[in-house]
Amino acid sequence: MEYQDIADDLTSVLLTEQQIHEKIAELSRRIEADYAGERLLLVGVLRGAVMVMADLARELKLPIEMDWMAVSSYGSGTQSSGVVRILKDLDSDLQGRKVLIVEDIIDSGLTLSWLRANLESRGAASVEICALLRKPDAAKVAVDVRYIGFEIPNAFVVGYGLDYAEKYRNFRDIGVLAPHVYES
Ligand code: PRP
Repeated sequence: MEYQDIADDLTSVLLTEQQIHEKIAELSRRIEADYAGERLLLVGVLRGAVMVMADLARELKLPIEMDWMAVSSYGSGTQSSGVVRILKDLDSDLQGRKVLIVEDIIDSGLTLSWLRANLESRGAASVEICALLRKPDAAKVAVDVRYIGFEIPNAFVVGYGLDYAEKYRNFRDIGVLAPHVYES
């Protein structure tokens, strides 16, 4: 889906598909250098991370494996509570594995902080994080993230995997949602 298909629902385009792809290439070069000769497992967090995972995995010139988790935060409304429930667990055994969690966005940081501790407790050799976006102003807990694409303002962003009410995930760029969409 292109900008003109949802222009009325956006106030602006924050990051274009081109900018995103350039950033993913840049992150991939760093990851390749850090994991040369290793057997890296990418863990994607459903559903928002699907696009980042697909592009990152194809960009990497490393023999990676992919696995997926789906988690849900307990709590009401749109606020993350930090208490996380596993909806779909990994199929892989993490014992001795080098794991890279792939996320679309870090908002409060609560999901990733929980997830990293959970994966570390399964005996992984290392657990690092790659997140395309981070909202520093929304952070409730500090998360040590080795690979970050962009620091963005605390706005409601959609596209490239990010949704509002399950819509806009297939928008190619990342845009700021117009208030009339979520206030109506
Ligand atoms: C988003 C995102 C992270 C989480 C970050 O997922 O993909 O998993 O929120 O928020 P936090 O830093 O405040 O914990 P969401 O729950 O929207 O599900 P989705 O990936 O299916 O869209």
